[in-house]
Amino acid sequence: MKKLIVIDSCMRAESRTRLILNAAVAELSKRYEVEIIDVNAVGLPPLDKTTYVDQRENGNIPPMAMEIARKVAACDRLVVAAPFWDMSFPAILKSFFENISLFDITFTDDGSACRGLCKCEKVLYITSRGMNIPTGDPREQASGYIAALSYLWGLGEVITVAATNVDYRSPEELALHLESTIAEAVEICREF
Ligand SMILES: Cc1cc2nc3c(=O)[nH]c(=O)nc-3n(C[C@H](O)[C@H](O)[C@H](O)COP(=O)(O)O)c2cc1C
Repeated sequence: MKKLIVIDSCMRAESRTRLILNAAVAELSKRYEVEIIDVNAVGLPPLDKTTYVDQRENGNIPPMAMEIARKVAACDRLVVAAPFWDMSFPAILKSFFENISLFDITFTDDGSACRGLCKCEKVLYITSRGMNIPTGDPREQASGYIAALSYLWGLGEVITVAATNVDYRSPEELALHLESTIAEAVEICREF
């Protein structure tokens, strides 16, 4: 069975993003062996002067970061789920990506440019946004980053599924909107 990794950066117990993710995972589990990596539980420290200059530059990379980077590089499909925070995704997820963006594991270079080393061919990015901001809008700085990371690592096409305006809909409207967003996600997952 092909392998799919979910990078789960949802935060709240009642997360709307996770509702969409759960439906997607239920569909994807029919065709993929799914492994969920919980960004909060992994707890990799952010890269700063100590962890990057003093440690990583001296070859001291957390074994957990290497293990996850290898899994991501080897998987067939990737799903990223994260709420929309401060016009992007939470900083802990950026920090997670920095930790597992490892030379000769997720990318390399040929002396003149970087080249991705990942086997993955498609990424599904799932989110929910409080405000009414569509995917690709200049105020939306998450999907563009994930597309750029896909370029660096060689992850392939990035498909975004987003619930929008979730903090400003009536409960009835929100329930209908989440229902249709979940249906959209499940439909994408059938072909993913
Ligand atoms: C720390 C924080 C920052 C947020 N920043 C934004 C923002 O910049 N733009 C926006 O549209 N919504 C913002 N929101 C609202 C969330 O995007 C919205 O509530 C979303 O549904 C949260 O996802 P969740 O239900 O999966 O936790 C923010 C929420 C939090 C908690």
